[in-house]
Parts: sequence; structure tokens; C-alpha cells
Amino acid sequence: TDIIIVLGTRPEIIKLSPVIRECERRDVDYTLLHTGQHYSDSLDTVFFEQLELPVPDYNLEVGSNSQGKQTGEMISGIEEKLLVEKPNVLVVQGDTNSVLAGAIAASKLDTEVAHVEAGLRSFDREMPEETNRVLTDHVGDYLFAPTEQSADHLLSEGIPEDRVYVVGNTVVDAVQQNSNLARQKSDILDKVDLKPGEYFLLTAHRASNVDNTSRFSSLLSGVSEAAELFEQQVIYPIHPRARNTLEEAGIELPENVRIIEPQDYLDFLTLQSETELIFTDSGGVQEEACILGIPCVTLRDSTERPETVEVGGNVLSDINSESITEKADKMYGKKGDWENPFGNGKASIKIIENISSEL
Ligand code: UD1
Ligand code: UDP
Repeated sequence: TDIIIVLGTRPEIIKLSPVIRECERRDVDYTLLHTGQHYSDSLDTVFFEQLELPVPDYNLEVGSNSQGKQTGEMISGIEEKLLVEKPNVLVVQGDTNSVLAGAIAASKLDTEVAHVEAGLRSFDREMPEETNRVLTDHVGDYLFAPTEQSADHLLSEGIPEDRVYVVGNTVVDAVQQNSNLARQKSDILDKVDLKPGEYFLLTAHRASNVDNTSRFSSLLSGVSEAAELFEQQVIYPIHPRARNTLEEAGIELPENVRIIEPQDYLDFLTLQSETELIFTDSGGVQEEACILGIPCVTLRDSTERPETVEVGGNVLSDINSESITEKADKMYGKKGDWENPFGNGKASIKIIENISSEL
């Protein structure tokens, strides 16, 4: 095979879907490898079906485990398949353990590493994702940075300029390819009995927020208070990681916070498009809010997507009621006419063009 695309989690499936489509369109000889980091239907198969992606050629089925075990099993499984498939280039996207595993396995063999969404930095090494980003970029041969700012991070770390390509973020491609479909096909608001503009949307799954019971409780009560202030209810499609904490610790949900299952992409795009305000600790959701023109409060101390803050679409908040309500007040009602910093929806074309020209 010429190219092997490695993915493992919800955001990688979504953000690589335009890249996979571009490979199909150009008839590129590619192989799809799923690490199995995500395996629940609602984080995995639902996206393959809805986005009409091919069933992966391989699924390593590594499942959940400690950082080292999960990453180690993926490295060894990916290496095995690389030895069989002998690809010229391995493509990974983002900052998960699946990304790091792919990058390490390929960099020790005769396979070049292409990193989609390169150069993002939160400068917070407490996050496993920051380690994954830095290490992957430093073994990368094609570094597809979404913005000039992310490219600058790479150059300032001594990475040679000829490896760095500023192409935009494939999340714009994904939003553009699916927004109309969402408008036509999604009936999620009816299903959950909500009206446009009459709810706030929350997602929280980051280990640093949801693994710690008291921090997670403060996050929920802060968002609840902010919603109360604006007489809104909160809808929270809950990631299994967060649901685990909620159930194990017996955290009581505030009355105006409703949890629902993780949503498919068209329904989630609709929930984002029709809300007044988004609270999140997700990377992809910060970007999509910014692209869709919906104000966002990011429940974190740092962000590797500072462009969203600089254009005026996003603000960081500490995890306590005072800060969350203050930031919600700052963002509520803001007209979403800021600039989209993540490109024009042609990132996946540029990525495949650049890789193909060297094959
Ligand atoms: C991972 C990524 C994170 C990304 C997120 C996207 C790392 C270090 N973290 O976090 O960067 O933002 O994916 O959603 O790579 N679980 C299920 N079903 C699944 C997968 C997980 O129930 O299909 C539960 C398990 O209890 C598991 C927990 O979620 O222990 C955490 O899963 P894991 O893959 O380790 O990390 P995420 O929190 O999903
Ligand atoms: N998403 C989704 N359904 C949901 C929540 C999120 O389809 O219920 C999508 C969202 O639109 C975005 C991506 O999942 O494209 C973000 O993934 P996640 O928050 O899990 O990971 P992160 O981006 O933080 O790594």
C-alpha cells in the first residue's frame, strides 16, 4: 500500500473523514487501520456508518487501559501491520495515544510519518495529549499545521521548515461536508424536546476535569449556575469516561443539567449550531464552535487552540461558579461574526496532494 491511515478515537474518525474521502476520490492506494482505542458504538461505528467511511482493513481492538499498556499494545500491533503492508507514508491526526503509537511504530521503520493537525501546543505537559503532540511532531516528516501560529511552534522547536505545511484544519472540511446534511436530516431537537436558542450545550471528558470528583462536581454546578442566570437548561451528551465518574462517585446532577448519550455527528452539529452558548473542554468542539459562530466557554486552564480566543469566539474559565458565570456572561449573546482561523475547507485536498506528489 502507498499510505496507511491510522485512527482510533471519535475526533480522529471525524477529522480524517475528509482525508479518507479525498483518497477515495483520487483512487489513492491506501489502507485503513483502527487501533480500537474507542470501541463503544456511540464513539466509533456510528461515525463510520453516518460518514459513509469504509470498514477499516485492520482493527487492533486494543480497548481501554493505562497509558503505557494501551500505547504499547498499539505500537506493537501497528508495527506488525506496517511490516505486512510496507506503506511509504503513515498518516495520523491529532493528539491521542493512537497518534503517538502510529508515529513511533512508523518512525522506526521505512515509513514516513504525516501528522495532520501538527504544531498545536497547550504548553501544559500534565496533559497526555501535549506529550503525544510534541513527540509525534518531532518524528514527523510531513507536518500539516492548521495555522501559521502552529507552524511557528514547530519552527521554534528546531523542526526544519521543509517538513512544515500550513494547510488549515480538516475540521473545517468536515463541518462544510456535513452541515447541510445535518440541517436536512437531523431531528435531534425534536427528539430531546428542545427549541433552537433555548438551551446551553456542554461537553466535558478531559481526564483532568472528570477523573477528579470534586473538580467535576464544581464544573457541573458552575455550568448549572450560569444557565440558571440566563434561564436556560443544559444538555450534556456525556462521554463514557465522565459517565463512569458520575456513577462511581454518585455525583448528583444539578436539576437543569440533562445528560444524554454521545450523539452522532449530524445530531451533534445540530446541537452546536442551534445553541446560545457552548461549554466544553474538547479540542474539536472549541474549533467547531468557532467555525459555526457560536460563543464558547472552555473549561480549562490552557488551550492549544488560542486562535479561537484571539478571534473572539472562545474564552477560558477556571472551574468554579464565579468564573464560569462571569465568562458565560461575557460570551452570551455575542454575535458570531468573527473570522474562522482554520482555513477554507480544502485542508484534506492539500494534504493528499502533498503526500501524493512525493510517492
Ligand atoms: C481519548 C484521548 C483524548 C480525546 C478523547 C476523544 C488519549 C490520551 N486521550 O480520551 O485526547 O480527547 O479520546 O474522545 O488518547 N471508554 C468507553 N468506550 C470507548 C472508549 C472509552 O466506555 O469506546 C471509557 C472507558 O471507561 C475508558 C475511558 O472511557 O477507560 C477512557 O478512554 P480512553 O481511550 O483511555 O481515553 P478518552 O478519555 O476517551
Ligand atoms: N462529537 C460528536 N458527538 C458528541 C460529542 C462530540 O459527534 O456527542 C464530535 C464533535 O463534533 C467533534 C468531536 O466529536 O468533532 C470532538 O471529539 P472529542 O470532544 O471526543 O475529542 P477532542 O476533540 O477533545 O479530542
